[in-house]
Amino acid sequence: MAMLFKASSSLLLTLNPKPKHKPIYNAFLLSRSTATKTNQTRKRVNAKAALAKEKRRTRSDKQFNQNDAVIDLNDTNTKTKSSHIPVMVGEVLDVFSTVSLTSFVDCTLGAAGHSTAVIRGHPELKYFVGMDVDSVAHDIAQPRLDAVLGGGVKALTVLRNFKDVKYVLSEIDELHLGVDGILMDLGMSSMQVDDPMRGFSVLADGPLDMRMDPQASLKAEDILNSWPDSEVGRVLREYGEESNWRTLQKKIVNARLDGGLHSTSDLLDLIRGSSPPMRGGRQGWIKTATRVFQALRIAVNDELKTLEDSLYSCFDCLAPKGRLAVISFHSLEDRIVKQTFLSIIKGCEDVEERESLKSDLRKTSDEIKEKEPWIKQVIHGSNGTILTKRPITPSGEEEKLNRRSRSAKLRVIQKL
Ligand SMILES: C[S@@+](CC[C@H](N)C(=O)[O-])C[C@H]1O[C@@H](n2cnc3c(N)ncnc32)[C@H](O)[C@@H]1O
Repeated sequence: MAMLFKASSSLLLTLNPKPKHKPIYNAFLLSRSTATKTNQTRKRVNAKAALAKEKRRTRSDKQFNQNDAVIDLNDTNTKTKSSHIPVMVGEVLDVFSTVSLTSFVDCTLGAAGHSTAVIRGHPELKYFVGMDVDSVAHDIAQPRLDAVLGGGVKALTVLRNFKDVKYVLSEIDELHLGVDGILMDLGMSSMQVDDPMRGFSVLADGPLDMRMDPQASLKAEDILNSWPDSEVGRVLREYGEESNWRTLQKKIVNARLDGGLHSTSDLLDLIRGSSPPMRGGRQGWIKTATRVFQALRIAVNDELKTLEDSLYSCFDCLAPKGRLAVISFHSLEDRIVKQTFLSIIKGCEDVEERESLKSDLRKTSDEIKEKEPWIKQVIHGSNGTILTKRPITPSGEEEKLNRRSRSAKLRVIQKL
């Protein structure tokens, strides 16, 4: 404090060589604001350094080939140009490379970017199941799947939520012993984000919809215009981790008196007007908008509860040695994947059994890592192994070429 005070006193003297009023008080104020700024800068630098360190630990060293990955979605009827780039395809292929994959389930089919790569890489495949709640995804995926599926593969694509995975698989007799591989690539596809009519993007005007499943009844507009005040606040706070949630909640509820919010630009105007100018200017309110949109999307699609329940269901559906790979895109999702995996494999209660397990498991760890260099550290449990103690994140090259990949984290669990 003494040092800071000294530094700011000299600053005060430079700025105002003849202070007339309350110089000590002014010096104190300046020293406080300088100290706050210094603290903020230090915090920002520390956070950046921590992130860089974490990325060094988790970053994939896989070569990224954009030309192999880009899925062209250009529509000649509407003359719209867009593309979807599946995230960490090479890393997902690595996860299943040593598995004899006779059955594979893609819970989030999207444009079938991952699925087509997995199918191509596994000629032993006999059963393929692709799930997605969005019929647009199915329309794009189906011809792409048809092009790679050989006659020997029994393939089923279903327009269903992945929370129903157990039910869907129970309908297929041949899969009653479990499947060898399951993939969940969470988040939105480019087809969804780039279509303004879906209401997912902060960059284009559209209705406040945000439904992954266009047949579902709840839209973002319903939450904003009719949910109780406290629930609106909870969504912003818990799902957006938005510190300014109280102000936003009040403004959203007040907007109801003027007919409510009906388009993404109505919401963006409200956020722009509610963000303190001090908080990073344009960057500040755009970041707030991104958090608010994330919060609403999570609530509309009940994403977190669905994810947690579905992770348990997917694990139950695995055959022995089967693997479940999950790509998440924000910290709330990743936390659920990490904690649910830990809870799934939770340690063996019997101490004696645990001791004998330990040496077996050490051997297994060494064997696994030797065979599969992408596996760095594992966590063993009584009924499964987490193959990614730390998640895998995209290579620097992939991050540069596909900005949407930058927050992706891949975690993998294997059944005993
Ligand atoms: C990131 S995209 C998947 C892209 C895909 N892996 C590819 O390579 O093209 C996520 C997809 O999951 C779908 N989805 C999201 N939540 C879902 C749920 N609960 N059940 C089924 N599909 C879901 C979305 O509709 C979207 O098409």
